[in-house]
Amino acid sequence: MSALIGLQCAMCKTAFAPKALYVCDQCLGPLEAVYDYDLVRREMTRESIEARPNNLWRYRELLPIDGEPLTGLDSGYTPLVRAHRLGRELGVDELYIKDDSVNHPTLSYKDRVVPVAATRAIELGFDTFGCASTGNLGNSVAAHAARLGLECYVFIPQSLEPGKILGSAVAGPHVVGIDGTYDDVNRLCTQVGDRYGWAFANINLRSYYAEGAKTIAFEIVEQLGWRYPTHLVSPVAGGTLLPRIGRAFRELREVGLTEGMLPRIHAAQAAGCAPVINALESGATHPEPVRPDTIAKSIAIGNPADGHQVLETVRGSGGSGERATDREILDAVGLLARTEGIFTEPAGGTTLAVAIKLIKAGVIPRDESVVVCITGNGYKTSHVVADQLEQPTRLGRALKEFEAFLASRSAQASVR
Ligand SMILES: Cc1ncc(COP(=O)(O)O)c(C=O)c1O
Ligand SMILES: [Zn+2]
Repeated sequence: MSALIGLQCAMCKTAFAPKALYVCDQCLGPLEAVYDYDLVRREMTRESIEARPNNLWRYRELLPIDGEPLTGLDSGYTPLVRAHRLGRELGVDELYIKDDSVNHPTLSYKDRVVPVAATRAIELGFDTFGCASTGNLGNSVAAHAARLGLECYVFIPQSLEPGKILGSAVAGPHVVGIDGTYDDVNRLCTQVGDRYGWAFANINLRSYYAEGAKTIAFEIVEQLGWRYPTHLVSPVAGGTLLPRIGRAFRELREVGLTEGMLPRIHAAQAAGCAPVINALESGATHPEPVRPDTIAKSIAIGNPADGHQVLETVRGSGGSGERATDREILDAVGLLARTEGIFTEPAGGTTLAVAIKLIKAGVIPRDESVVVCITGNGYKTSHVVADQLEQPTRLGRALKEFEAFLASRSAQASVR
């Protein structure tokens, strides 16, 4: 059973019915789901959660649908990896990677938010489901729409990586490539949603979609044995994920599933698209839009829809923010693969690179626990690292060729 009561403006607290609404008509603030926490406290105990299937719906009382979940029954519940080798490299004992690069079925954190939006789209009577995407969201919207038999439109900037475009196209939606930035695509989709009455996961269904992002934080706390980490580092693009991580941590305490100090939440952006980090530094309450220029295309959003909430969450948690250059992003992608065997895309490289900078600066002390959220998979953007890697050794089939190769390598090593 869901404990959803309705929607409420995050700013002026005006109540709204749980329809396809996302901005307050009084103050233009964003709308968010409201729950009956007394009901949640009764229905959702550690025992009842642990007895449920390992998917994002194990926290369903805190997700905004009315009936049964319709998709995402294999999504979420991704590994929380204790990163011993990476931790040793950085001098941090308790370091974890929350690995959404293996989220089912499209290998990014978007497989948490889309099942919630898609289920709600059907509950609200929509038959066409779409999104404005920097790549991963399109992949997830296309996949879940395919499973549900929904008509699907994925709008993207034309300049996206081929792997990201293909990952949507394969599931058979209409893929529409716009000559412009993500922010142009988003503006167009707002108009299309209004004109045609279609559901857009991250626009008119944003109040529902965003709630799915909380599940990454619910899982982290459960996987730590119902304990908060001291620090968490999250990427920021449109600003969906980071504020919902903060909300999820607060809700767990509110409904009595855990206690203790709330984690410090740190924001990671690419140096070529860092409106939120700029605002953290200048003291602004709303990010000033920028024009993105970074290899981390999935997080290249110059005008984040939820930028204000990101700033509030980071500041309210005692967290911080930092930016990573393209070089630092690529180095972090390599380091994560060489130490932990996890291959992430540049968004994940950004998050890890920022975590490393904050550790080196002492903002994240080395004796405190840290979770780094890795939100996308490196196989979709393999071209960005391809020319950094050693080429395979090419040999014939005879053992003596391999022996000669090994001998030449050890000779080289002794010269060095
Ligand atoms: C891999 C990846 N990580 C993180 C994000 C962060 O997105 P947001 O801040 O909009 O939640 C995105 C979004 O587009 C993404 O594709
Ligand atoms: Zn309002």
